[in-house]
Amino acid sequence: MYKPYCRKPRLAAILTTCLVLVLTASFALAHGDERPVKKGILLVAFGSSMPEAQVSFENIDTKVKKAFPGVPVRWAYTSKIIRNKMAKEGGKSLDSPAAALSKMMDEDFTHVAVQSLHTIPGEEYHSLLKTAHEFQGMPKGMKRVLVGYPLMASHEDMLKTVDAVMANIPKARKNDEAVVLMGHGTHHPGNIYYPAAQYYFGQKDANIYVGTVEGAPSLDEVLAELKKKNIKTAYLMPLMSVAGDHARNDMAGNEDDSWKSVLTKAGIKCVPVLKGTAEFDQVVDIWVEHLKSALSHFK
Ligand code: CO
Repeated sequence: MYKPYCRKPRLAAILTTCLVLVLTASFALAHGDERPVKKGILLVAFGSSMPEAQVSFENIDTKVKKAFPGVPVRWAYTSKIIRNKMAKEGGKSLDSPAAALSKMMDEDFTHVAVQSLHTIPGEEYHSLLKTAHEFQGMPKGMKRVLVGYPLMASHEDMLKTVDAVMANIPKARKNDEAVVLMGHGTHHPGNIYYPAAQYYFGQKDANIYVGTVEGAPSLDEVLAELKKKNIKTAYLMPLMSVAGDHARNDMAGNEDDSWKSVLTKAGIKCVPVLKGTAEFDQVVDIWVEHLKSALSHFK
């Protein structure tokens, strides 16, 4: 039923509501939200204490700065052991992701794209996600903090990673010689990316094998396959961003239990390749793509 007496109070209520909204908005603007947008990049790697491994980080740093000119780039390292070791032995103070984000917050960054330079979405990546999330929307802090995927996350990433790594296998390697890639491996459910990588590499080249130091597949499993195929020579390459301690000792070292020693003992000639995947431009391009997609959300 039509009630004409209702019209005036309704109009008044609407006007009052509008006024309140306008006042609230200007109040909010006057209290911090007018800060200019300041975008930044935080690159996060596991870290390595080996000076020879720094070439990997330098390559990423150069390529990221070239891809995103004018956007400040910071670094953080997820391994506490590495950070402590670097501080003690190298006299170098490295930031954890939380320390780096906190510094960026104090420097008035409003939008930060955090790029995980890890190989798989494992423990390091998932902790990084949590840390980044905690920094998003803090009072007077960053408005948005997004994390780019590690190297191998999607089906497309797996295809690209396979091509990128294969493009960097030494040209001298013949088709009947194997390539054994050493992944790190983890107790985290993300370890599944290593058997997945085996599948994707196998689709392109049946003589490429993926093994891990701390997860599955193990070296024993890889060795059983090499024996089945009567492989005589194997190129050993790290499926890790840096050719650090694992590559130099566990893979190519002279200790009895290194991959080189175990395979050599089994009658397979080994050719170690001491290069981390981050030394390969095609691999770095994949991380840069992930970073680009994180940054594309800041519009
Ligand atoms: Co390790």
